[in-house]
Amino acid sequence: MTDFAEYTPEYTTIWSFPERGNWATHNAKYRGNFAPQIARNIIEMYSEKGDSILDPMVGAGTTLIEAKLLARNALGMDINPEAVRISEKALDFKHQPPSKQKVQVGDARDLSFLKDNSFDLILTHPPYMNIIKYSNGQIPGDLSNMSSLPKFCDEIEIIAKELFRVLKPDKFCAILIGDTRKGRHYVPLAFNVMRRFQKAGFVLKEDIIKIQHNCKFTERWRYKAVRDRFYLIMHEHLFVFRKPNVDEDLSKLKFSTFL
Ligand SMILES: C[S@@+](CC[C@H](N)C(=O)[O-])C[C@H]1O[C@@H](n2cnc3c(N)ncnc32)[C@H](O)[C@@H]1O
Repeated sequence: MTDFAEYTPEYTTIWSFPERGNWATHNAKYRGNFAPQIARNIIEMYSEKGDSILDPMVGAGTTLIEAKLLARNALGMDINPEAVRISEKALDFKHQPPSKQKVQVGDARDLSFLKDNSFDLILTHPPYMNIIKYSNGQIPGDLSNMSSLPKFCDEIEIIAKELFRVLKPDKFCAILIGDTRKGRHYVPLAFNVMRRFQKAGFVLKEDIIKIQHNCKFTERWRYKAVRDRFYLIMHEHLFVFRKPNVDEDLSKLKFSTFL
């Protein structure tokens, strides 16, 4: 396991963490949680000490643990009360200099209790449709219950619009999302999600390829993949978007905006 002392910042668009970070209260038990190295890189690159960070689908709290270690204030939300309980427990440690983190139950599609232009950075990680079911159909509004790509993207667009509203201009919103396969064909979930974020007004700053490690079922699927001529998906996209300034001339960014 990688200790904090072994952490070095990334400087290319390909990120690979064969050993997930094991420092502070991080643990890999929450299914599908991202490596602490992802949160640390994004927070260090796009925010300053004392800034406010939002993760509206916080899961086991990886973003908020890193926010605390890096002295950023942060709000985490999750539709699943169990995730909120796990995150609160993970945040129960002392750290200097002090900062404030709060986790609450909530739906990322409705951030009406938050003011416009109030966060310096957003980092989040939605379910990849129903690849991992977080509440097995028990919690209405849980995006991991959705099996229809268009319907999932419509919900993501609602979230993207809310995130655009609450982020300060000229600040960044990073989202980790993977793809899937149906009928042995590739379903570009990530690019569909990317376009919905662009539609909400964001401009694309980065598309970072995150290599996946320790994928379950890889050995079982290997034989099938060779037999049926498809490749096993071993990467995710970490999109970094920027919210443009109000009167910003976007004509120079025409290749980065929604076509
Ligand atoms: C991939 S996990 C996030 C993992 C997190 N990055 C971590 O490291 O622990 C996605 C989370 O989104 C939550 N979720 C699903 N639908 C939601 C919604 N509408 N609003 C808020 N959270 C939601 C799920 O309960 C799940 O905890």
